[in-house]
Amino acid sequence: MSVPEALPLAVLFGGRSEEHEVSLQSAKTVLDNLDPRKYQVHLVGITREGGWLGPEASQRLLEGKDPAEAGSAPYLPAGTRCVFPVLHGPHGEDGLIQGWLELQGVPVVGSGSVGSHLAMDKILSKLVLRYQGLSVPSWTEITREQFQANPEEAIQRAIARGLPCFVKPNRLGSSVGISRVAEEDQMAAALALALQHDDRLLVEPEVPGREFEVAVMEGEPLLVSEPGEIISEQWYDYESKYQNQSARLVAPVENLHQSARSKMMRMAAEAFRLLRLSGLARVDFRVKDHSGQVFINEVNSLPGFTSISMYPRLMELAGVPLPAQLDRLVQLALRKQLAAATQSAPPQAALL
Ligand SMILES: Nc1ncnc2c1ncn2[C@@H]1O[C@H](COP(=O)(O)OP(=O)(O)O)[C@@H](O)[C@H]1O
Ligand SMILES: [Mg+2]
Repeated sequence: MSVPEALPLAVLFGGRSEEHEVSLQSAKTVLDNLDPRKYQVHLVGITREGGWLGPEASQRLLEGKDPAEAGSAPYLPAGTRCVFPVLHGPHGEDGLIQGWLELQGVPVVGSGSVGSHLAMDKILSKLVLRYQGLSVPSWTEITREQFQANPEEAIQRAIARGLPCFVKPNRLGSSVGISRVAEEDQMAAALALALQHDDRLLVEPEVPGREFEVAVMEGEPLLVSEPGEIISEQWYDYESKYQNQSARLVAPVENLHQSARSKMMRMAAEAFRLLRLSGLARVDFRVKDHSGQVFINEVNSLPGFTSISMYPRLMELAGVPLPAQLDRLVQLALRKQLAAATQSAPPQAALL
């Protein structure tokens, strides 16, 4: 019996976003769980300045060392047959790299350019979800131009829906640039902070209650995990996520009403389809105290894959161990490419 050849798989990590460090951690977990008999892995590290590194410098970046080279423009190692972008945040999870890969006709794990962009843009995704009747917290949008032209008016609009509230850059993740504002006099600093990270922000009234996450993996039928719960002291900020790790991820969840559980799973599946996502996504929820009302907080098209992350853990509980999750994601990418190729045959990319 002939042994199938290992698939040349480029794993992208690092990147220009403020989630660079998180991406390195995710990439380590992914690399540890890719079966070397199935994959010939090519490391492609991307520096914080956006340089795409060769194999040795990529290894150094991964190990937290100085890569000792500036890197080049985007490239793929010769012979690449599939790309796994283990990138979070802008310039990685927002559709730009996915679009570049789509142009080259190379299979890419996860969502395409449109789904990635929609999910990354908190305001656009809320518009789509709400239009289709899925509950999301209400919000006020403020642009940098508006804040600079009339800060007082921007502050008044920001507090108009009530306090406490959350002020967020529109397109980021890992809680970077987000503030919980409880007092009016904290608002100006919160708006200024969010606008350091994006030229558009949103302000949402706090949904007091519990926080859950649901993992989704494409397939027939769609694989939707049970919810996992995030228990944090105040809110799930960057520190509690990655630094002191005071937040606890609980799965399976206790004391959750069956109707809320199945509602979240249904909403997660619907959000996945509405936002044109592929491969995988994590859909995050707030469930309001007393009323039990379920809100989608946000949708992540490239959820964290660190050793402490919720996505791989929820999928494991759903019966898919991590190496099998990665196999399935690569298979989905290859199959999608095959289906697209039978509809229209793009010219082969120069490097393939
Ligand atoms: N409307 C809200 N009500 C209560 N908590 C919120 C609200 N919005 C955000 N949070 C808290 O802030 C965290 C980060 O917000 P999120 O929108 O998920 O941003 P990010 O994309 O950076 O993860 C959430 O996990 C939650 O703990
Ligand atoms: Mg979040």
